[in-house]
Amino acid sequence: MVTIKSKKEIGYMKEVCKVVDAVYKKIESEIKAGMSTWDIDQIAEKEMIRLGAIPAEKGYSIGIPGVPDYPAATCISVNDEVIHGIPSKDKIIKDGDIVSVDTVALKNGFNGDAARTFMVGDVSKEARRLVEVTKQAFFEGIKYAKKGNRIGDVCHAIGEYVHSQGYSVVREFQGHGIGKEMHEDPGIPNYGKAGRGIRLEPGMTLAIEPMVIQGKPNIMELDDGWTIITEDGSLAAHYENTILITEKEPEILTLL
Ligand code: MF3
Ligand code: CO
Repeated sequence: MVTIKSKKEIGYMKEVCKVVDAVYKKIESEIKAGMSTWDIDQIAEKEMIRLGAIPAEKGYSIGIPGVPDYPAATCISVNDEVIHGIPSKDKIIKDGDIVSVDTVALKNGFNGDAARTFMVGDVSKEARRLVEVTKQAFFEGIKYAKKGNRIGDVCHAIGEYVHSQGYSVVREFQGHGIGKEMHEDPGIPNYGKAGRGIRLEPGMTLAIEPMVIQGKPNIMELDDGWTIITEDGSLAAHYENTILITEKEPEILTLL
């Protein structure tokens, strides 16, 4: 079911999304080579708690028997890791790495979700272009995130842009509605046909999240049950914001 948020609920969505924005500002100012991905996770968790929020990814279950609950406040995926990398004290960030951080905060019963790919130190030209295209894909998509348009218009714009730049989109994972639940309807793939799917209405809150691979779209899952990597070893990037559909332009709630 696609939920339409009331004025009061939109206030709560804005409040929790502001926490997520603050988390990324903090990470941006502190991330550097030599830190572990666990160090970054700790920064995120502490900042959320300081701002009165709960790290919603910690303990999250996808409900598949045998898959352990997610153990951390963030997903941190480095270089050829696409999404859902588990932070670890043994995983040290190196100069030139691209580091995707994805986190969800929960406050007043509402979730805010965003992801950023940080470029640490001297990043190659190729990696930088991938990160920039991934971010731009989000902005290309939300040009269509308007009242009366269909969700497929957004999906289509993201996929077309990414492909026009010579990259692939991940097909097995997608963006989503968000609110009281981290993942609500509709599903929002990073490709698709324009003119298809639900019509967008003011009060919908959506997490739009291009996941882009430099090489072939194929992915694999590691034995930890979470980490997704590219099959061909090429780089991947992720960029996500929670947005609000309005009477006019969408509001980006996790980017202030
Ligand atoms: N934040 C992710 C998303 O963009 C979900 C992560 S799964 C979790 O939808 F287990 F880490 F929570
Ligand atoms: Co998301």
